[in-house]
Amino acid sequence: MNRTPLIAGNWKMNGLSDALGFFSALAGAGASTRHCDILVCPPATLLSVAAMRAAEHGYLVGGQDCHTEASGANTGDLSAEMLRDAGAAFVIVGHSERRADHGESDALVRAKALAARRGGLVPIICVGESLEDREAGKADAVVGAQIAGSVPESLSATDYVLAYEPVWAIGTGRTASTDDIATMHAFIRASRPDGDAVRILYGGSVKPGIAEQILSLDDVDGALVGGASLDPSSFAAIAKASHS
Ligand code: PGA
Repeated sequence: MNRTPLIAGNWKMNGLSDALGFFSALAGAGASTRHCDILVCPPATLLSVAAMRAAEHGYLVGGQDCHTEASGANTGDLSAEMLRDAGAAFVIVGHSERRADHGESDALVRAKALAARRGGLVPIICVGESLEDREAGKADAVVGAQIAGSVPESLSATDYVLAYEPVWAIGTGRTASTDDIATMHAFIRASRPDGDAVRILYGGSVKPGIAEQILSLDDVDGALVGGASLDPSSFAAIAKASHS
């Protein structure tokens, strides 16, 4: 199955308007979309200008979260429709920071994934176990339950993207071993109907030095990159590693 790699950057709560030179710098650093899709999820405040700058180079932009409703009395929230209107093509849902800091349940993440589709976006649905779960031998069970609860059955394989991000690897400089990543990605793929067509990203301290090893694994179809996506040369190096 031919799955186009997706290299996605998650800027989290980083970036003021002076960060918008990122896209031309990324192109200058040689990040080409010939062999992979390149996506940046900036803070929503930058989204509409970022969408225009990104489009000049064939890059895509996305949101970092969305509400379940299309509009309404939800102060401070953004709908998938609004993100799409600002130029987004994707939206991250169920990131572990949202699950932990905002108490997001699998059911809520599932509703957000459906809202993303309603709004014309591709949801990147995040799952991943804690260190405690992994050390207790429960990684598969935890991730399997998150997938069962967070991925709407009605979505076809190309309507969404999955991101496996072990919580203990996010922002810590620790990546999972390639063996553990390969095993988990194969497990995730096998757990989905039409799993062969689903793009499954790895996330958690992906940096240029180790990206190639991770991205060359059979069941890894790209990366969700936090810290290293803030620097155009690092992010370009990761994109290049997806097709080396
Ligand atoms: P990191 O973040 O690359 O900084 O570990 C990944 C993520 O949270 O998506």
